Amino acid sequence: MLGGKKILLGVCGSIAAYKSVYLVRQLVKEGAEVKVIMSKGALDFVTPLTFSTLSKNKVYADFSNDEDQWNNHVDLGLWADVMLIAPATANTLARMANGICDHFLLGVYLSAKCPVIVAPAMDLDMYKHPATIANLDKISSFNKHYIIQAESGELASGLYGEGRMAEPDNIVNYIKNFFLNTKKGLSPLRGRKALVTAGPTYEAIDPVRYISNHSTGKMGFALAEVLAENGAEVILISGPSLQKEIHPNIRRVNVTTAEEMYQASIRAYSDVDVAILSAAVADYKPAIVHDLKLKKSENEHALSLVKTKDILKKLGEQKTGQILVGFALETNDEIENAKKKLNAKNLDFIVLNSLRDKNAGFKHSTNKITILDKNGDKDSFPLKQKKDVARDIVQKVITYLN
Ligand code: CTP
Repeated sequence: MLGGKKILLGVCGSIAAYKSVYLVRQLVKEGAEVKVIMSKGALDFVTPLTFSTLSKNKVYADFSNDEDQWNNHVDLGLWADVMLIAPATANTLARMANGICDHFLLGVYLSAKCPVIVAPAMDLDMYKHPATIANLDKISSFNKHYIIQAESGELASGLYGEGRMAEPDNIVNYIKNFFLNTKKGLSPLRGRKALVTAGPTYEAIDPVRYISNHSTGKMGFALAEVLAENGAEVILISGPSLQKEIHPNIRRVNVTTAEEMYQASIRAYSDVDVAILSAAVADYKPAIVHDLKLKKSENEHALSLVKTKDILKKLGEQKTGQILVGFALETNDEIENAKKKLNAKNLDFIVLNSLRDKNAGFKHSTNKITILDKNGDKDSFPLKQKKDVARDIVQKVITYLN
């Protein structure tokens, strides 16, 4: 399945480098042409001879070679159909995230124009460190960058947890799927219009206080980016969020309240092919918004709340052929609750995440979803960076539109 594909494999200094030997073997067996670049640290774990024997290609580890000639990092970067960095250490991830280029592998990485796939490997605490999480988040936000989440198991330290490089067979499958999807065209959503809602809403109590929730907008912004990267023209209706949209095909509309989000969504809806409502819209708002700041007086203060308009439900009622996607964040009876919402709101599919899953939902840069569709199909995905989760959701949209 990988016949003729040119894969540039970057191997970093981790014990998981031994797995990359088998990875090269499998990639070559599938028909790929593989060139290997090793970091200085990787040389301590595996010899270049092992990789050159298996790949039948020269192995690169430095800016110059034994004959004192320059190894051309630009040519190598341009040669590849895909650059795979496996294992990617915490150190290399930090350098990639910040454009630091202090060894040959990073020089090639910065020169490469092809998609880049990264398979991290490190000890569990390093993998969970906020710095590593932020670096992975940043890398996955770069155009055509993909992360293969580390797996759980016994680690070199003897500890047990998440951080092990994905198994070589899983990496090979990922790459096969990757080429299969891109073969279908790099801009499958060209000419399509999409609406995305994102972030929380703020419902004022008085000029100082409001009711809201923990949504950051990350998931919705990732969806807007992926839709745009696939060629769609995106209108992103966002509640208050610090996220930034990067793609020029995204038009951002800022709103504050559920009512404003409702009005903006209704206005945009008739013109789009797909609407993905990922915003965490307040279900209730204060019945009265006080003009002046409420002063404290009584020991208890009851706040009367009224329901906001359900945007998703309304769009379900007004559907004229759009693909309509909703989210369900649940804490219990997840599947049952999500199915109810799918039907009640006339959706094509619903993306379920459970607050019971570790590292999923609000505030995390990762998410773990199950997609339930109107035909009764159910697809569960492993924990992934939100950008990769967005890719899975957009992939499903693409299959619906084609
Ligand atoms: N939604 C919306 N407008 C609202 C409330 C929610 O568009 N006023 C959308 C969300 O963007 C999300 C989905 O509806 O896509 C969530 O479904 P919902 O039934 O509102 O979930 P909850 O509010 O969590 O419902 P419940 O509290 O009953 O679980």
